[in-house]
Amino acid sequence: MRTQLTDSLQIDFPMIMAPMFLVSNEAMVIAAMNNGIAGSFPSLNYRKEGELEKVLDHLNNEKEKLSVRGTYGINLIVQKTNPLYEKHLKICIEKKVPFYITSLGNPKQVIEEAHRYGAKVFCDVTNITHAQKCFELGCDGFIAVGQGAGGHAGPNPLQVLIPSFHQHFPTSIVIAAGGIATGAGVLSMLSMGAAGVSVGTRFIATVEAGVSIEYKNAIVNSEMQDIVLTEKISGTPCTIIDTPFAKKIGYKQNWLEKQLSINTRTKKYFKMWVQLSGMKKLEASIHPGNYQSLWCAGQSVELIHEISSVKEVIEHIKQQTQTAYQDLKSVF
Ligand SMILES: Cc1cc2nc3c(=O)[nH]c(=O)nc-3n(C[C@H](O)[C@H](O)[C@H](O)COP(=O)(O)O)c2cc1C
Repeated sequence: MRTQLTDSLQIDFPMIMAPMFLVSNEAMVIAAMNNGIAGSFPSLNYRKEGELEKVLDHLNNEKEKLSVRGTYGINLIVQKTNPLYEKHLKICIEKKVPFYITSLGNPKQVIEEAHRYGAKVFCDVTNITHAQKCFELGCDGFIAVGQGAGGHAGPNPLQVLIPSFHQHFPTSIVIAAGGIATGAGVLSMLSMGAAGVSVGTRFIATVEAGVSIEYKNAIVNSEMQDIVLTEKISGTPCTIIDTPFAKKIGYKQNWLEKQLSINTRTKKYFKMWVQLSGMKKLEASIHPGNYQSLWCAGQSVELIHEISSVKEVIEHIKQQTQTAYQDLKSVF
């Protein structure tokens, strides 16, 4: 298959394994690269001193040895509330990370520094206004995050979002994210003008994912109506499985929390505190035997029926894409 995305990243199949906080790890990214797609992970998954450098050295080594076209990228939260942003960006630039996914803030610095050595930058966006700003800063493309996505889902359906991005930015690379877990999903996004897809939730239920078996089983056993939005993790609505613990802590910020997050004097520090305590709750939840379960996942849980290896997931999606294409051809 050949699209703007496979050309840009030098990969065999137009798919990114999406960055997932606490879930993505080195083993998953190596498996993704070895199976012809782009693996990615949030830099924040490696917060201890020296850890990120070590992982990047390993990934660069593995990339050298590849017998297929695969690559990897890093997700940077480019927000003032991310205390590790500057430090992580410096490390990534030094290690010449092949591509970047920016989320939640202004990607200017990442674009400038990455472009100095030819790396690509894709910006997570949920609407045209934010995308326009990233476009003017010279990003290489967008990850258009739609309804039902795992994490900070967008409000708009991909059937509207993707053609709209395509109309506004006809030469940019548009990558569809949200609810895609099958080959038919990939084919439908390509047919609407996307150059590729970014898949997150499907990869939580993999052998390699760095989370407890309880979390993986919950992905397999949940249905789309089990996914709810909560403001309790980062202040911004985030999709989680509606566990008893999620119900207990509630989904909305209260009046005082809302005031603290808009007041100009308190907002930065309050948001940092919300994010830090949300991160701690999420972190506790990925360990086996923890009953305070806060499990982030998108609506594609509906389509996930087993825990497989990353290789099996990719092979299955590739094969389903071909089948969906043949089936569709027979209609015409
Ligand atoms: C558990 C989980 C953690 C995530 N963490 C991040 C993150 O740290 N940074 C980010 O930009 N997106 C994050 N996302 C969003 C994904 O990168 C991606 O946009 C999304 O998973 C795509 O939708 P899907 O889950 O329906 O495939 C996360 C998603 C999930 C499910």
